[in-house]
Amino acid sequence: MEIKEIKLEELDPEKFIEEKVKEIASIVGEGMAINALSGGVDSSTVTMLGHRALGDRLKTYFIENGLMREGEAQKVASTFRELGLQVKLVDARDRFFEALKGIRDPEEKREAITRTFYRDVFGKIVMKEREARFLLQGTNYTDVEETVAGIKRQHNVLKQLGIDTQEQYGYKVIEPIIQLRKDSVRVVARNLGLPETIYNRIPFPGPALAARVIGEVTPERIEVVRKATKIVEEELAETGAFQFLAILHEDKVTGVREGKRDFGLQIEVRCWDSVDATTGTPTKLPYEKLEKLAQRITTEVPGVVSVTYNITKKPPSTIEAI
Ligand code: XMP
Repeated sequence: MEIKEIKLEELDPEKFIEEKVKEIASIVGEGMAINALSGGVDSSTVTMLGHRALGDRLKTYFIENGLMREGEAQKVASTFRELGLQVKLVDARDRFFEALKGIRDPEEKREAITRTFYRDVFGKIVMKEREARFLLQGTNYTDVEETVAGIKRQHNVLKQLGIDTQEQYGYKVIEPIIQLRKDSVRVVARNLGLPETIYNRIPFPGPALAARVIGEVTPERIEVVRKATKIVEEELAETGAFQFLAILHEDKVTGVREGKRDFGLQIEVRCWDSVDATTGTPTKLPYEKLEKLAQRITTEVPGVVSVTYNITKKPPSTIEAI
């Protein structure tokens, strides 16, 4: 790859921050930039770098795509308000569900999300914020590596796939953390003064809960996985694992409730030990914890009759389902 990785042991966070702030300021010049904040470590780090470089000339947006976790938009906006940053919320739920309608293939889903995000939603914002000619975003080294290797098209990788954003969407993309992997991004985030709830937050993918729905993504199916995700995050928060998630399967299975057949949904739980998501090993969770997950998910998430735990390493599995 033409991008040079900065490994954790080579990283001087203060120097890195200083250099990136200077770089952003010099690229944007007197102009304005916008950025998309999802509340994850990567986009939060880039938001802080951009804010240091540009102050109010950075306009930060949270795109409500309908695929986020429960209460996410409000949580992110209030965390950043406390840090002195205003976050504008854009409701794009209908657009995303429309774009995802009828699509079942994983790569096509990812492509639809990328297109909706960069062309439809940000293309429009740039037209509104007439002086903004730059989009700052938190693409990291692993995102590019996996996309270039053809493992998964990460939603935020553009140039390496031949997408010229200037030509196609009317703005240039700036990617300040593209040389870092997640472990290094966390160090930079901490040095930027972000709270621990952000710098130690478990990773969450750009395509959001759509990366965890096998088959068609509809508002109803997202709601199922959202409810299961909440339970998994509550139950596994204290494990200290790298990442934990719930996946909704496409196939239904026969279950039994109150003595009657109930042909219902299947949820798969994954919990990963990993350093930077390049490889991963399922966490050896206590059996009682697995039983609690099964019990809560089948009673609290309507329609679910089966809960499984993934015991496969990455590779050959990947962290997310699609
Ligand atoms: P996979 O599923 O490829 O995930 O093993 C590796 C790590 O990346 C996250 N992930 C994404 N992050 N855009 C992102 O910013 C994406 O499109 C995307 N897909 C997966 C995933 O949660 C894991 O931490």
